Amino acid sequence: MNSPALHTARQAEVSIRADEIETGRLRLRMFSLNDLPPLSLITKDPEVMKYIGAGKPISTEETRSNLVKLVETFKRRGFGRWAVIHKTHNRLIGYCGFTVLDERAGVELAYLLARPFWGKGLATEAARACLRYGFDKLHFDTIAAITRPENTASQRVMEKVGMKYLRRGPHCNMECVHYTISKEEFEFSRELYRLRRAFS
Ligand SMILES: CC(C)(COP(=O)(O)OP(=O)(O)OC[C@H]1O[C@@H](n2cnc3c(N)ncnc32)[C@H](O)[C@@H]1OP(=O)(O)O)[C@@H](O)C(=O)NCCC(=O)NCCS
Repeated sequence: MNSPALHTARQAEVSIRADEIETGRLRLRMFSLNDLPPLSLITKDPEVMKYIGAGKPISTEETRSNLVKLVETFKRRGFGRWAVIHKTHNRLIGYCGFTVLDERAGVELAYLLARPFWGKGLATEAARACLRYGFDKLHFDTIAAITRPENTASQRVMEKVGMKYLRRGPHCNMECVHYTISKEEFEFSRELYRLRRAFS
């Protein structure tokens, strides 16, 4: 726990203010390094990790290193992936938000949830809120989403939030399908969407 990267992330943590997003069932807040145990439980599930990175579960150490980068990136860019908290269970169930893995693809929407929470419309709810925030507050013109062709659940989420299929092609050295949505195409829903400026 004493790596230089962790130290930097801890130091930066005291000074950041960022928006939290509340939806009907979820709270999206900034990650902190305290989220490692519940996040690591999720990233150890082979089904969850089937289409992420190398397609395999990752160790607690790898999750720790990813979490440090995630916290630092959010602070540097002012946006990133939020921790997704289920309000009723009051627990971390995954992440949703923005990443830039390849400058050519632009800003990408990314999401991942723990398996017990699949199939309830929660990724769609989180993704819609993030898109709204991305267009409204971050002033993105377009937002991309990219996944493996076999990841049909993820593509279904993209379709449900109004994203359009663009093409099939490589991304980060893997064959993927690319979806996109512009600010003009995005339809605001009447679902609960509340912002709160919070220290994190
Ligand atoms: C992708 C993921 C986030 C979806 O989360 P979720 O909360 O279950 O998504 P939702 O319930 O909002 O919507 C899922 C949709 O996919 C559909 N679906 C689920 N599994 C499916 C499958 N195998 N084939 C086709 N459709 C499928 C659901 O029926 C639902 O569509 P519907 O509302 O029209 O019925 C979740 O499966 C996950 O975390 N997977 C592992 C991480 C991952 O792959 N992330 C995406 C990386 S790009």
